[in-house]
Amino acid sequence: MFKRIPGTKDILPDEASLWQNIEESARKIFSLYNYREIRVPVIEEESLFNRSLGQSSEIIQKQMFLIRHQNDVYALRPEGTAGIVRSYIENNLDKKESFAKLYYIGPMFRLERPQKGRLRQFHHIGCEAIGSGCASLDIEIISLADRLLKGFCVEGYKIKINSLGCAKDKKELTVVLHKGLKNKLDKLCLDCNTRFKVNILRILDCKNDQCREVVKGLNIHEEYLCPDCKRHFEIVLKGLDLVNIKYEVSPYLVRGLDYYTRTVFEITHEELGAQDALGAGGRYDNLVKELDGPEMGAVGFAFGVERLLLVARCAPHAGKSLVYFIPLGDEARKEALKLLEDLRANAIACDMEYEGKSLKGAMRKANDLQAKVVLILGEDELKKNVVTLKDMVSGEQREIKKEDLVAELKK
Ligand code: HAM
Repeated sequence: MFKRIPGTKDILPDEASLWQNIEESARKIFSLYNYREIRVPVIEEESLFNRSLGQSSEIIQKQMFLIRHQNDVYALRPEGTAGIVRSYIENNLDKKESFAKLYYIGPMFRLERPQKGRLRQFHHIGCEAIGSGCASLDIEIISLADRLLKGFCVEGYKIKINSLGCAKDKKELTVVLHKGLKNKLDKLCLDCNTRFKVNILRILDCKNDQCREVVKGLNIHEEYLCPDCKRHFEIVLKGLDLVNIKYEVSPYLVRGLDYYTRTVFEITHEELGAQDALGAGGRYDNLVKELDGPEMGAVGFAFGVERLLLVARCAPHAGKSLVYFIPLGDEARKEALKLLEDLRANAIACDMEYEGKSLKGAMRKANDLQAKVVLILGEDELKKNVVTLKDMVSGEQREIKKEDLVAELKK
């Protein structure tokens, strides 16, 4: 027997309806904020991600699914932002609409060690607003993330926010960290010793208690931000207060992708355990230019759908009202096929007993399917040109003329 690859999931029909609810709700909320859907390939050139996410990021170092073909190396997308910026530039959206609000829903791939909430194929619901550096857009995007969570009936999440500043500020912070940490390497964990060499900013959000103590001792706040970035961050925080969004300023939040500048945020939920990030995002004001597009600001975020489903409390929508046909005998089955066609042409969801069950067995099946109505067609009914309709809610049963069936069911 074949088994699925570790870190991947089958979404079976019962669960798929929860996915549909979340996706439907997301689409509605994105359109409230005037975002339009974009669908880009799940496979891109490897170098697109190398250039965007940063050579030293964990994703590039060890989590890419690579496919070699002749002299090309492709990658299954580990995230959505890089591919969308590539598409924005390649399709001249910068010229056609300049400022674009785009959303996406789809699978991402990372070669991680699978555990609860950490998969090798997982799904993002995300968005990117490309073409503006305006601080109000950061506020709107965090409000959008917050509204999506409310739409998914998620409670008890925390929004953590920080500013990394512009590229120059990030360099400045790197220097500050270098100076502050170079004599404390023996107190840092093994990973942070590597980070010290390849990606020093990531030491700030190490989860190891001892590393946290060392980092706290450095007393890093916003002093490394230039006046413009400081002002931008103040506007964002004031705006969030204005629209009543609760947040926590988290001076050690840095994020694992190199493209971020200025505002970064992460939304966590205690119930998720070790992998507590429901979603994350931020500004990436240099990425469009770095991928050979014009210089323009951008901001976005993505939620992990599998993690959302671990904490979403929405009851699934009630199933569609299904009509279930039980034909008794070959003649009745032929007649039922015609009637099914008729019902479907009139947008009435229906199904038929196909397994040759007895009337009792077929009624049990109708119950399992939560059918609202059962239609029984036997020899008697065929002779009288009627169908017996059983209302599964009230239990009432009556005969209906075949030609009146659609009108009756539409009631
Ligand atoms: P990210 O933080 O790498 O950001 O991923 C966003 C979310 O995807 C995480 O918060 C988490 O919920 C989920 N996630 C990540 N890895 C896994 C995994 N292995 N298994 C299950 N869920 C996972 C990004 O990808 C950025 N592109 C977000 C963004 C958009 N920034 C700006 N625009």
